[in-house]
Amino acid sequence: MDTPSPAFIIDLEKLAANCALLAEVKAAASCHIVHALKAFALPQAFPVMQEHLDGCCASGPWEAQLAHLHFGKHILTCAPAYTSADLDTLLPLSTHLDFNSPGQWNRFRDQVMAHPRFQSGELRCGLRINPRCSTGPNPLYDPCAPGSRLGCPPELIGEANLEGLSGLHFHTLCEQNSDDLERTLEAVDQHFGHLLRSPQFRYLNMGGGHWITKPDYDRDLLIRLVRQTYQRYDLDEIWLEPGEAAVVHTGILAATVLDLFPSGDLQVALLDVSATAHMPDVLEMPYRPDLTRADGSPAADPGHYEHTYRLGGPSCLAGDVIGDFSFQSPLQIGDRLHFQDMAQYTMVKTTLFNGVRHPAYVLKHPDGRLETVREFHYDDFASKLGVPPNTI
Ligand SMILES: Cc1ncc(COP(=O)(O)O)c(C=O)c1O
Repeated sequence: MDTPSPAFIIDLEKLAANCALLAEVKAAASCHIVHALKAFALPQAFPVMQEHLDGCCASGPWEAQLAHLHFGKHILTCAPAYTSADLDTLLPLSTHLDFNSPGQWNRFRDQVMAHPRFQSGELRCGLRINPRCSTGPNPLYDPCAPGSRLGCPPELIGEANLEGLSGLHFHTLCEQNSDDLERTLEAVDQHFGHLLRSPQFRYLNMGGGHWITKPDYDRDLLIRLVRQTYQRYDLDEIWLEPGEAAVVHTGILAATVLDLFPSGDLQVALLDVSATAHMPDVLEMPYRPDLTRADGSPAADPGHYEHTYRLGGPSCLAGDVIGDFSFQSPLQIGDRLHFQDMAQYTMVKTTLFNGVRHPAYVLKHPDGRLETVREFHYDDFASKLGVPPNTI
């Protein structure tokens, strides 16, 4: 394949298909769906998404600026904490600005309510709530875990001054189906239903984590739940802000075998991609990516096929290992490998650790054409460190 290596390759046709499915759900449920930039933020791919989605969910001033400059439409911002300077940037850009605690809202209420966009109604503000309803298996991704710092717990509501707020926001799911949303909505009603029933609260943001584009996702239930929620509380707006759903199964990380050698009982294959710098979730979550060769033939668990290798990255970290995989035929130096499903939460989390070459960004167009939209060089490394490019 005539692309740089390593490279993230994003399939625009698959991206468009996911977004079109989200648009169908949006129309059927009469809700709004925005894309969470934290999961995937490649502006060169945004034209495919803009057509179908209502805007972006931003986690602070930088993502909000990216959304404003490159996506447009609505910008729903929610961060665990803001500074006054953050709000100077966010107030002119956001259409919805959600606060993580009554304390944050009270600290900045005057600044927000004095802003012309708040006064004109172009900007609405809400409170992120913690409905205390854990539905996922992994505490790392559970904003309702004991001691959570994400969202206002029910017991703080009694004394809170919520004057000026008109929305509630919860985000509690991660790669989950709509039955978990159903349970969550019951918990929201139990703890915060009195707020949603009052005429003050006009919008509800149901966060992300809805795996809407997966084949086994129960979209009919989601649509029913959204419709019921409108009626239950007489709301103006219901928002969903999934990130993964738009990009799941749309991107690969293409790598090249740089070296092969035996180490103890194992065969090591050294690649030009790093677990720690380019796929940190492989180590953090942890998880094992699906893998194929460039011709599409699959790799499998160690020992499944005849030729097993430990795939490692080029950094200095001893544990920079992606995993042990077996192949039907021996690997050769120069072979291309494709790590699957790398668009969501992978491209956005890469680092320049150890000066390891950063993967390029490549778009795969519907006609099969591959377009490299970004390559990384020493100058990017230097720029991060605040020193001039190499002019030698
Ligand atoms: C507040 C908020 N909204 C939306 C999302 C997007 O979630 P996902 O990509 O799982 O759909 C996240 C993910 O962490 C989040 O924290």
